[in-house]
Amino acid sequence: MTARLAVFGNPVTHSQSPAIHQAFAAQAGISLEYLKLEPAVDEFLDAAKAFLAAGALGFNVTVPFKRTACGLVEELSDRARQVNAVNTVYRTAEGRLVGDSTDGGGLVNDMTRNLGWDLKSRRVLVLGAGGASRSVVPALLAAQVADVVMCNRSHDKAAGLASGYVAQGEQRVRAMSANDTAEPFDVVVNGTSAGLGGALPLLPGQAIGPQSHCYDMVYGPASLPFQQACRAQGAAQVSDGLGMLVEQAALAFSLWFSVTVDTRPVIETLRARVEPRNNS
Ligand code: ATR
Repeated sequence: MTARLAVFGNPVTHSQSPAIHQAFAAQAGISLEYLKLEPAVDEFLDAAKAFLAAGALGFNVTVPFKRTACGLVEELSDRARQVNAVNTVYRTAEGRLVGDSTDGGGLVNDMTRNLGWDLKSRRVLVLGAGGASRSVVPALLAAQVADVVMCNRSHDKAAGLASGYVAQGEQRVRAMSANDTAEPFDVVVNGTSAGLGGALPLLPGQAIGPQSHCYDMVYGPASLPFQQACRAQGAAQVSDGLGMLVEQAALAFSLWFSVTVDTRPVIETLRARVEPRNNS
């Protein structure tokens, strides 16, 4: 029997998810149909319900539907509830519809398994306070980083996020202004969308130094301004977010099929199609 899945987004034309999941399915010997579906913004919930009613196993959700998808499921995983976003919908063995968020786990798995970065007790700067940045904070905390410092163009947003964590008893998250000067961070994650417009987010002075490992959550040309700036400031290593894309997909695949896939050949194939990772 062929399993049916899809990614819902708008726009979704450039999504690599079908290719990634077909590669996983080939590894696992699973017959899969994986579609790209692009409903109008106010038609997502109806379209998703119709897809499930037609026998789909589940689906992925991308921009701009990740928050709306929280209202579609019967149950949210702890991590989806924490970030108020869903990127994967699946059914439990009992048939309950669950919304989960694998983005943060994907980031951490790429950093630790593929890039060999040690996150334990590291000081992390997260640039941005939108959906992308928010989605990775719980996974970084779970990876036992020393702290997560949020820095955003609109400082109030980062401050609000940090105080939300502190109110829940998580003291490791705080906000800083880009006007401040910092000690160089061990890890700097760019979760802003600045690169999509060819821009660089403002960084606190001295935030990047020779021990800094810098990661952009996007890949392709949008990741170049940040990667170039990090190199110019002497960062130890610099990476784009292509590995995160594949790793978050692997976590979703294991929710649907209870199998662990080998992400490396899939990252390599995608890398050859996109551009060099430019690790240094
Ligand atoms: P996403 O869901 O991709 O995170 P978003 O929620 O719109 O998208 O958030 C975009 C993030 O990138 C925000 O943190 C935004 O900063 P503001 O909150 O000040 O808008 C940040 N961002 C976008 N363009 C930027 C730029 N040119 N320089 C710095 N930050 C930028």
